[in-house]
Amino acid sequence: MNLPAFGLGTFRLEGQVVVDAVTAALEFGYRLIDTAQFYSNEAEIGRALAASSVPRRDIFITTKVWPDNFSRFVPSVKESLSKLGIDTADLLLIHWPAPSSGMPLAETLGALLDCKNQGLASQVGVSNFNIAQMQEAVALAGLGNIATNQVELSPYFQNLKVATAAKSQGIRITSYMTLARGTILEDPVLLDIAGRHGATVAQVALAWAMQLGYTVIPSSTQRSNLQGNLLATQLRLSDDEMARIAALDRDQRMINPPALAPEWD
Ligand SMILES: NC(=O)c1ccc[n+]([C@@H]2O[C@H](COP(=O)([O-])OP(=O)(O)OC[C@H]3O[C@@H](n4cnc5c(N)ncnc54)[C@H](OP(=O)(O)O)[C@@H]3O)[C@@H](O)[C@H]2O)c1
Repeated sequence: MNLPAFGLGTFRLEGQVVVDAVTAALEFGYRLIDTAQFYSNEAEIGRALAASSVPRRDIFITTKVWPDNFSRFVPSVKESLSKLGIDTADLLLIHWPAPSSGMPLAETLGALLDCKNQGLASQVGVSNFNIAQMQEAVALAGLGNIATNQVELSPYFQNLKVATAAKSQGIRITSYMTLARGTILEDPVLLDIAGRHGATVAQVALAWAMQLGYTVIPSSTQRSNLQGNLLATQLRLSDDEMARIAALDRDQRMINPPALAPEWD
């Protein structure tokens, strides 16, 4: 299993904005790009990848299958790869379990594994799965074959039950919205810790998540934020600082689309 600890998220980045963000990120040293069919930016990311001097083999590309495409899973993945200009995704995820899609989860997981068997993805994983759904995925794919569960996770929403269960099932957590869309940036505890390190609050939150063993994929449209966020990979927090951040959990979930979400743990 091989999943970089740090990457670029691209939700809400479209057109030239996403081309510029991916281009700048690769220039700064980002090597993981996270996209999805739903983000409508795979073709633009493909353009940025093609124009980059960073070789394809050095870049890790994740994309995700949207529930509308569950009934045409494999063809939709081939379309994604074509837009991205690649033969194989490094990681392919089911974006949401979407219980109301009418498609049994076992079938969707079967299609995901087909993609891996056909060489369309080197690794596969899931996103927004609850504990029972992670167990079902591992039972079907085999232990060690579900690379990640990409879930909302930030200092204000630490998602501990899912993170603990994922660990015991050999699944790495990818934290999305680690910055809780900016709502953590004025937190006094995080500001204090950041001040002690001469760092930004964003760097502290990202370093905290990576130190817990999670992958992070912050997005930004700003070159300065893109560059600054990457420096989180060089920040080491003390046990005391980690404990102070652990105490900030307030169960503040921000993303909960009713037709797509599972029964959360
Ligand atoms: N699997 C899923 O269902 C799912 C759901 C949501 C997100 N995701 C993934 O997770 C990624 C991250 O989530 P997100 O982009 O929604 O939220 P996020 O990373 O928590 O926050 C992004 C926001 O924070 C700002 N920001 C970034 N760096 C900053 C910094 N250093 N200082 C101040 N502000 C900063 C950005 O604004 P600026 O542009 O102004 O920097 C942007 O508005 C997404 O791009 C996507 O790839 C996945």
